[in-house]
Amino acid sequence: MQTLHVDLGARSYPIYIGPGLLGRAELLQPHIPGRQVLVVSNETVAPLYLQRLLPGLDGLQVETVVLPDGEQYKNLEVLNRIYDALLQARFDRQCTVLALGGGVVGDMAGFAAASYQRGVNFVQVPTTLLAQVDSSVGGKTGVNHALGKNMIGAFHQPRCVLADTDTLTTLEDRQLKAGIAEVIKYGLIRDPAFFQWLQANMSRLLGRDPAALSEAIERSCRNKAEVVAADELEAGQRALLNLGHTFGHAIETGTGYGNWLHGEAVATGMCMAADLSRRMGWLSEAEQAATESLITQAGLPTQPPVEMTAKQFLQLMAVDKKVEAGRMRLVLLRAIGAAVVSADFDAGKLRETLPD
Ligand SMILES: NC(=O)c1ccc[n+]([C@@H]2O[C@H](COP(=O)([O-])OP(=O)(O)OC[C@H]3O[C@@H](n4cnc5c(N)ncnc54)[C@H](O)[C@@H]3O)[C@@H](O)[C@H]2O)c1
Ligand SMILES: [Zn+2]
Repeated sequence: MQTLHVDLGARSYPIYIGPGLLGRAELLQPHIPGRQVLVVSNETVAPLYLQRLLPGLDGLQVETVVLPDGEQYKNLEVLNRIYDALLQARFDRQCTVLALGGGVVGDMAGFAAASYQRGVNFVQVPTTLLAQVDSSVGGKTGVNHALGKNMIGAFHQPRCVLADTDTLTTLEDRQLKAGIAEVIKYGLIRDPAFFQWLQANMSRLLGRDPAALSEAIERSCRNKAEVVAADELEAGQRALLNLGHTFGHAIETGTGYGNWLHGEAVATGMCMAADLSRRMGWLSEAEQAATESLITQAGLPTQPPVEMTAKQFLQLMAVDKKVEAGRMRLVLLRAIGAAVVSADFDAGKLRETLPD
């Protein structure tokens, strides 16, 4: 097992990464201050892993809520089921909400924990690659609105993150690849050595080599933890973690939540960001090609959906959370491993990057 730390003063917490961690009470229970735990999961993950988790919560009052599975259920209406469960069980302010599942469950359970009685304890037990390398770390929580992705939310850090790599064995290939998109992101924005490692090890990752997966998860979490520790509330450099996301969120919203997976949309979004960066003269042709090639090697899409127009992209991109004073800001690349946030891009060149 590897233990990393997210360094946030009084709100610091550990990330445990390794096989066979579900059900290890000595890892979980020091981070559960009260006696009451609500496990939030979904109809796919609960049958697979709830029983394995329960020994880790032995001796506590455990309630569970099982949500429907899918990005299209990440909304305020379904969120209410978590509040219903908390209130029906009369959970108090010392209770803990524990997310067992992918990023959708984690974001929803986290927002419920952030808002129930103005904030209760939260624990993340991520079960997708995407959640283990990204969404479980850093405290962003929330739900979608019909008009914009992740538009309702709060920052609320977990007390610990327990990433059991054994859970990845049941993940569908398409989901594994979607997680790899966020892994590639860390290489592109700040870790060129990791990008090179990914070029050399992509086939091991796709083959689910446990050592390769563990290394990718650790290196990703280390990058995420460093960025979050430096800029918890996204006043500056944390925005770099949104490489590909302004384009990607537009794709997710534009095609209907759940049709393109988040990681797939981000993969295409990173290619679009690389394309615009090259048009601006910031990224070399060779580095743009290397970016597209690694994303292709991972079996991820590089081209925007055929049904989306430039106009639709521009409308959807205008509701991005990085918009400030009406000015759109994008994460672009100066080189592989060097991303920047910029409002200073050429609108004409952006138009060339977008579909006709
Ligand atoms: N909070 C953040 O910082 C942050 C960062 C990145 C992404 N996100 C959010 O995360 C979400 C995407 O997360 P995701 O990719 O994990 O999607 P997801 O939660 O929808 O999980 C993907 C699918 O895998 C299933 N699943 C989960 N674990 C499994 C397992 N071990 N075995 C078999 N099936 C399993 C799920 O039921 C689901 O069908 C998006 O809503 C995105 O906005 C949040
Ligand atoms: Zn993402």
